[in-house]
Amino acid sequence: MDRDPWAKFRRPNSEHPAQSEETRTHQHPGVAGARRPNAMPSPSPAPPPVLPISEHEDEIVAAVDANPVVVVIGETGSGKSTQLSQILHRRGYTRRGAIAVTQPRRVAAVSVSRRVAQELGVPLGDEVGYAIRFEDRTSERTCIKYLTDGILLRESLSNPELKQYSVIILDEAHERSLNTDILLGLMKRLIKDRASDLKVLITSATLDGLKVSKFFSGCPVLNIPGTLFPVEKFYSTDRPTNYIESSLRTAIDIHAKEPPGDVLIFMTGKDDIDKMVSKLEERIRNLEEGSCIDALVLPLHGSLPPELQVRVFAPAPPNCRRFIVATNVAETSLTVDGVVFVIDCGYVKQRQYNPSSGMYSLDVVQISRVQADQRAGRAGRTRPGKCYRLYPISIYQNEFLEATVPEIQRSSLAGSVLYLKSLNLPDINILKFDFLDPPSRELRIIILKEEINKV
Ligand SMILES: Nc1ncnc2c1ncn2[C@@H]1O[C@H](COP(=O)(O)OP(=O)(O)OP(=O)(O)O)[C@@H](O)[C@H]1O
Ligand SMILES: [Mg+2]
Repeated sequence: MDRDPWAKFRRPNSEHPAQSEETRTHQHPGVAGARRPNAMPSPSPAPPPVLPISEHEDEIVAAVDANPVVVVIGETGSGKSTQLSQILHRRGYTRRGAIAVTQPRRVAAVSVSRRVAQELGVPLGDEVGYAIRFEDRTSERTCIKYLTDGILLRESLSNPELKQYSVIILDEAHERSLNTDILLGLMKRLIKDRASDLKVLITSATLDGLKVSKFFSGCPVLNIPGTLFPVEKFYSTDRPTNYIESSLRTAIDIHAKEPPGDVLIFMTGKDDIDKMVSKLEERIRNLEEGSCIDALVLPLHGSLPPELQVRVFAPAPPNCRRFIVATNVAETSLTVDGVVFVIDCGYVKQRQYNPSSGMYSLDVVQISRVQADQRAGRAGRTRPGKCYRLYPISIYQNEFLEATVPEIQRSSLAGSVLYLKSLNLPDINILKFDFLDPPSRELRIIILKEEINKV
C-alpha cells in the first residue's frame, strides 16, 4: 500500500486559489450551524434541514401557476425529486388529478417514493406510490406517483391525454434516454391540447436548461442555488492504468484513514462489480485485526433482484463501514443514507451502435462531465462528503464530453424506427415528431420510404 495514500490525489482548490466552478467545494450560504443536523450536538433531535428547493417554494409555485412548462435546475441533493411533488401537493395541485414524477430507473422510483411517503407520514401505496415494470404500488388514493419514464410512455399509449395527471414532472431529464426524449416531444404536444389544466416540470441538476426552454417556446428556467452539504473533490494525478485496482486501493485507504462513513464505488458493470466485491472483501480480511472498524461490501446493479437492491437502503449495522459497489444505476437521483465517500473510476458501460458492423456493442467508455457531477452528488446528501476521481482534472476538463450523447444518437436507425413504431403512438407522425435533438436525416428518410411503400 502507498505510504502516503493521498499523495497521488490532488485537491484542486488548495492549489488553485482562483477556483473554477467544477472544483469548488459548494456550500449553500444558509446551511451553516443549526440547519445542518450534525453540526451542533444537541440533546433534542435536530430539526430536519431546510432544502434549497423548499426555500424557493413561493418562486417555484408562482412560475408553475403562470406557465404550462417550467424547467427547474438545482444542485444534486437540493430537493428536486423529493420536494417539488410535495410542494405542488401542498399548494392544491392534486385537487384536479395526480402528480406524476418520472425517474430514469426502477430503483430510483422505489427509493424516492419511499422517502416521500416517509416524509409525509403515510404508508407507501396510499397517497404516495410508485409504478415500475411488473409492480404497481399505487391505489385510488395515490396523488403523488413516482414511475419510470417507460411506464409513463406506456400509460400515454392507452390514455394519450394523460388526463389522470394535473402535473407531470420529468425528473433527471439529463439522462436523455430514448423514452425521455419521446416524452419531451409528447409533453410539447400535450400542453397544446391541455394548456389550461396540465403543468409540466422538467428537472435536473445537470441539464442544459436554455436548450430545453427553447424547445418549449421560451418557458422559464428556474435556477435554484445552493446545496445542502459540501462535497470536496479530489483528482488523481495519473490516468488509471487499472481502474479496479485503483478503486480497491482508494477504498482500502479510506477505510484505514478516514472517519466512519459509507463508500460508494462506481464500476462499469456486473463483472467488474463481482470482481471488486470479492477482492475488496479479501483485502479487508487481510487488514490487521482491530486496525479498522467492521466492513460490509454490497453490490448494486440493475440485474440484481429487487430485494437485494434495496438492501443498500437499510440502516448500516453499528460501528461498520459499508462499501456499495454500483453501476450507473446509483449515479442519478439516489440518496443512500450514510454515504460520505464516492469513488469514481471515470468509466461507464454504454450500449452503442456500430454502423460498420451493423451491430450493437456494450463498450466501456469515458463518462461525461454530467455523469461525473452526478456521481459526486451522491455524497454530501446527509452530511459533508468527499469524491475521489480516479483521473486527472485535465481529463475531466478536456477529454470528457460535456454531456452524455443522447440515446437516440447512439442507436441504429432501424432500431429507433422499430422502437418508435412499436410504441404505436396514436395520431403521431414520426416524420413531424418534435424531438429535442432530432434523429438524423437518414432516419427520417427511412421512415418516409416506409410510408411511401405503404401507399
Ligand atoms: N432516503 C433518504 N435518507 C436520508 N435523507 C434523504 C433521503 N432521501 C432524500 N434525503 C434528503 O433529501 C435531500 C434531497 O433529496 P432529493 O432526492 O430530493 O434531491 P435532488 O435535488 O433530487 O438530487 P439529485 O439531483 O441528486 O437527484 C437529500 O440531499 C437528503 O438530504
Ligand atoms: Mg433527484
